[in-house]
Amino acid sequence: MCELGRNIEIAPSILSADFAHLGREIEKVEAAGANLIHLDIMDGHFVPNMTIGPPVVASIRKTTSLPLDAHLMIEKPERFLDDFIRAGVNWLSVHVEVDAHLDRTLQHLKANGIKAGIAINPGTALSSIDQVLPFADYVLIMTVNPGFGGQKFIPYTLKKVRRLRESVVSNGYPTRIEVDGGIGPENLGDILTAGAEIIVAGSAVFSSQKGASEAVKEMKGIAERHSRSLDLI
Ligand code: DX5
Ligand code: ZN
Repeated sequence: MCELGRNIEIAPSILSADFAHLGREIEKVEAAGANLIHLDIMDGHFVPNMTIGPPVVASIRKTTSLPLDAHLMIEKPERFLDDFIRAGVNWLSVHVEVDAHLDRTLQHLKANGIKAGIAINPGTALSSIDQVLPFADYVLIMTVNPGFGGQKFIPYTLKKVRRLRESVVSNGYPTRIEVDGGIGPENLGDILTAGAEIIVAGSAVFSSQKGASEAVKEMKGIAERHSRSLDLI
């Protein structure tokens, strides 16, 4: 399948960064060429872990000009959309498993100039988002069970990425595909081939032996070589 111009972006997740020095950590990946900063928002209910809320996001906003990509792993996400919009996020995804009014959420985000995303767990069928797919700016396919950084990539999710890519291409939807969990230089090629465009990486960046900056550069290099090979087909 020849897809000219697929824009691959690398989104470091700060979940594995040093939370006491977030500004410094973000500066490093921004200088290395990261395209957006992925923020994992967890509530201890939908997922068995807790992270940050709107006040921390508002502080992060002041440290970078990169778009902020908020991934809400919280129950009843509609309660907090406006708080995160005010905190300065640019992209926001909610999980299909916990939003009973996805259509309304997507409309609300778009009306506020936010890129509207739907996140979907490994165990949730793609058919659950069929109806709203054309209205989503992006779909975040979880490639691990959400809640923690540093988990192992779940191989069957590759098939899901492939199927979603086929569906958006054949329907002519503008929807982009983001993938999140267990991704690093070793499996990035396969994931790009399956059709992902926005690549979240937490531990592969911030826990890398080579350092976060080198890790981002390596993943950008793989993405660029992949795009060039698509252009040649
Ligand atoms: C997991 C989060 C991910 C996490 C990915 O629930 O949604 O964004 O930071 O971390 P790695 O890349 O280490 O799997
Ligand atoms: Zn995430």
